[in-house]
Amino acid sequence: MRPPRANGYRTAWAGDLRRENVGETPRVAGWVHRRRDHGGLIFIDLRDRSGLLQLVFHPESAPQAHEAAGRLRAEDVITVSGELVDREQGAVNPNIPTGEVELSVSELEILADAQTPPFEIAEEKGDVGEDTRLRYRYLDLRRTQMQRNIELRHRVAQAIRAYMNERDFLEIETPMLTRSTPEGARDFIVPSRLQPGSWYALPQSPQLFKELLMMSGFERYYQIVRCFRDEDLRADRQPEFTQLDVELSFVDEEDVYELVDGLMRDLLALVDIEIELPLERLTYDDVLLRYGSDRPDRRLGREIHDLGELFADSEFQVFRGALESGGVVRGFKTHGEFPRRRVDELTERAKRMGAKGLVWAEVEGDVWRSPIAKFLKPEEMQRVSSALGASEGDYIFIVADAPEIAARVLGDLRPAVADEPPTGTDLFWVVDFPMFDWNEDERRWDAMHHPFTAPSGDLDADPGSWRSRGYDIVMNGLEIGGGSIRINRPDVQQKVFDAIGLDAAEARERFGFLLEALEYGAPPLGGIAFGLDRIAALLAGQDSIREVIAFPKTASGAELLTGAPAPVDEIQLRELGLRAQKKS
Ligand code: AMO
Ligand code: AMP
Repeated sequence: MRPPRANGYRTAWAGDLRRENVGETPRVAGWVHRRRDHGGLIFIDLRDRSGLLQLVFHPESAPQAHEAAGRLRAEDVITVSGELVDREQGAVNPNIPTGEVELSVSELEILADAQTPPFEIAEEKGDVGEDTRLRYRYLDLRRTQMQRNIELRHRVAQAIRAYMNERDFLEIETPMLTRSTPEGARDFIVPSRLQPGSWYALPQSPQLFKELLMMSGFERYYQIVRCFRDEDLRADRQPEFTQLDVELSFVDEEDVYELVDGLMRDLLALVDIEIELPLERLTYDDVLLRYGSDRPDRRLGREIHDLGELFADSEFQVFRGALESGGVVRGFKTHGEFPRRRVDELTERAKRMGAKGLVWAEVEGDVWRSPIAKFLKPEEMQRVSSALGASEGDYIFIVADAPEIAARVLGDLRPAVADEPPTGTDLFWVVDFPMFDWNEDERRWDAMHHPFTAPSGDLDADPGSWRSRGYDIVMNGLEIGGGSIRINRPDVQQKVFDAIGLDAAEARERFGFLLEALEYGAPPLGGIAFGLDRIAALLAGQDSIREVIAFPKTASGAELLTGAPAPVDEIQLRELGLRAQKKS
């Protein structure tokens, strides 16, 4: 770090002192990380944001400081001064940057006492439950790993700004109190005091505002922006999260891909990962077939193959029957140990995902050890083994079902059968999505991205056949971003609204402002948004985005530190014309 402005608390950062500073008399300040008493000497590791520095207190040369140091407890806040000296041979600690030196303290001042913390800050995580960590988040954030995570997140945000600014993007803020933007989740809503009975929605994304900014002629917009979605939470989802939101005008897909490829290169370089550009682009149909998911982790290998042709004349009824009724037979091979119990568990898992069953086989010589071996000809087994590249001792898993089910089930099994955590980096685009998903419950089409995404294909044909000009970007099995080229003509926008069952009157009610803006000269436009929390977590090597958010929420949406959400005063409700009612 740059040297601090010298004041009564510190003249140097503790973690930045080195051998070349030996002989200097710095003053440093921070927290007592650890104390060790050692044959009359007292050693303290002092911690500030820059790192750790060993302090040593001598009973003879500085009796007062030594005496006070004897009473210090972990997390007390102190300022000390003294002479920086070389450590004795054998006392050098190669694990920390200040490991060759120590501060021989002549003066100690205690700035604040600390109670015994509910968990040790010096221990990395240990057995501390996450609820305790979140309840005392200000203590949890003192831990080295959390300091690193938050700093890395900062560097990601700064690298983004540098990259975008360099390319003439303007950072423009959009409203937080606004109207619903459909991104597929529930809204958080805020009551209006001035207009009783009316509500704002917090933005699920700035989607419509960024489109309007393009219609206003800003050409290139970005924003690091908080978004709000009331949905069920997981390790990679928070009710409020941060997007890098981007929009450009007079562009097509290639412009977005090139912009994002370069950004990804810069971001990964922050953690010394080099990637080859351009990033690969896979079609939605292709990833679904080969990996059974629209955001697969390809590092797992275990690619899914279509085995339909090999079983077209099979005497095994399950496979032939599935094929004859329009289904598919797909499978993959894996190495690993699969005793009976594990195979049974995997079968149960497949059934919970909707499969009628799961076929397993171990390659033994030219044939298989499998419950279905007796129904197959040796040539059939050999052909399947060779199509999957399976050799002696490998296991094969096969599902026969409707294409969607087979994809889903096998996509779920790929990570489930992997014993070793994947390593390396897998980053690619998914392109060429269908425009709509069929919503069986409501018997209508749902937009796969959002309904402002430009469709392609014959718009007079069945909407099920339309493709979308959307794209996603996937890293290590996580969707880190998604976007599209947008609709810039009101007639096309209305066609999409029609397809999702939003009639003209309702469309005008909810999105009249957009339809109107489209009448005043809208440029061709497109953009993308990234999950900044997800990117930061991936770069930090963390499994959950909660590890890169200073004050995250739990799976039930609680913020344990402040106790949000919480009831409000009767008076506050009355002002808003609201009355709290117990959920029946
Ligand atoms: P989308 O809904 O795909 O697109 O969101 C963009 C990215 O935001 C991240 N993300 C989340 N991260 C944490 N917690 C959440 N609850 C959460 N939800 C989404 C994901 C996702 O890829 N307006 C469009 C973008 C566009 O079309 O330009 C949008 O919001 O990483
Ligand atoms: P989100 O976390 O909302 O950005 O979702 C990321 C992607 O995962 C979207 O394309 C969702 O359709 C998909 N998705 C959401 N929930 C599930 C789930 N339970 N199983 C599989 N995919 C899901």
